[in-house]
Amino acid sequence: MNLLVCGGAGFIGSNFVRLMLEREPGCRIAILDALTYAGNMTTIADVLADPRCRFTHGQIQDAHTVAELVKAKKITHIVNFAAETHNDRSLLESGSFIQTDVFGVHVLLEATRKFGLERLVHVSTDEVYGSIAEGRFTEQSPLEPNTPYSASKAGGDLQARAHFVSFGTPVIVTRGGNNYGPFQYPEKLIPFFVTRLMDGKKVPLYGDGSQVREWIHVMDHCEGIEKVLRKGEPGQVYNIGDDNERANHEVVRILLEETGRDAALVKSIPDPRRGAHDKRYSMACDRVRALGWMPRRSFHEHLRETVRWYREHEAWWRPIAESEAYESFVKAFYGPSLGEDL
Ligand code: TYD
Repeated sequence: MNLLVCGGAGFIGSNFVRLMLEREPGCRIAILDALTYAGNMTTIADVLADPRCRFTHGQIQDAHTVAELVKAKKITHIVNFAAETHNDRSLLESGSFIQTDVFGVHVLLEATRKFGLERLVHVSTDEVYGSIAEGRFTEQSPLEPNTPYSASKAGGDLQARAHFVSFGTPVIVTRGGNNYGPFQYPEKLIPFFVTRLMDGKKVPLYGDGSQVREWIHVMDHCEGIEKVLRKGEPGQVYNIGDDNERANHEVVRILLEETGRDAALVKSIPDPRRGAHDKRYSMACDRVRALGWMPRRSFHEHLRETVRWYREHEAWWRPIAESEAYESFVKAFYGPSLGEDL
């Protein structure tokens, strides 16, 4: 398998590359990554030491770069992780989300069709379904995204669907739950809170923290994507979740325990997402389970391990947390509510 992993220098993509190097000894992997604020060469330093793995700096929106790479590396399969992914940033600026998450997917679909690739797996999110008060989303649930981010992901998913129907392009869409684990950029709830708590800083809990997310360990998610890559049916969508629903305040309580910090560091702030803050996500995942996949990592134990990873890998996250780009986002987004506690 000659695999192109788009967004391979990011959180989920880099963990997926590690998994494939282990699981598929004969594979060759081309990583394409734009190295936006969330992509990082230090994240993939270990995998680039493997001669089966090569890196190209570029965007999935750039059809020329994608085409040249597909030809030069004789690519047979693409897995796309490249995306703008942060809801809160999409509330400040959303044009880049549409560029990457919609137009970029279109470029990959066209390349898959034009060069007759065997398969494109497009990695998406449960957020495209919107919020569900009771029950679970299935792959047939309507798409009702509520933020510019989730709407851009839904746009990519619909391009994939239309390409399959119109041209028979062999594309499969996966929709994952909220991921946690090593190498997650410290703007998402878990790494943002862990790194701040370790520094003894206050953490901003949106509203009362009663929103529910379905958390899945990144390696369980990657194993699900691998299963879909090998056995999934073109044109289908596969939900990949862990049946592990937790209210935000529950996750935060575990983080306080694991960092040994006092609950006084948690500051409840007016919800910056307001009406766009999805109350609950929950997915039925029978379809991917029927391929022989199931999640293997228990939440409490692996959340603890994740906190330990951040404690032991300060050299990875500290330069990010001290970068101007990071500090200016945190200041712009949280300054008004955290004030002195920033
Ligand atoms: P996040 O990690 O941004 O993922 P998503 O928006 O894709 O679910 O947020 C997870 C939950 O945590 C969400 O309900 C918003 C909440 N949250 C906070 O309360 N405070 C924060 O600082 C962040 C980043 C998120």
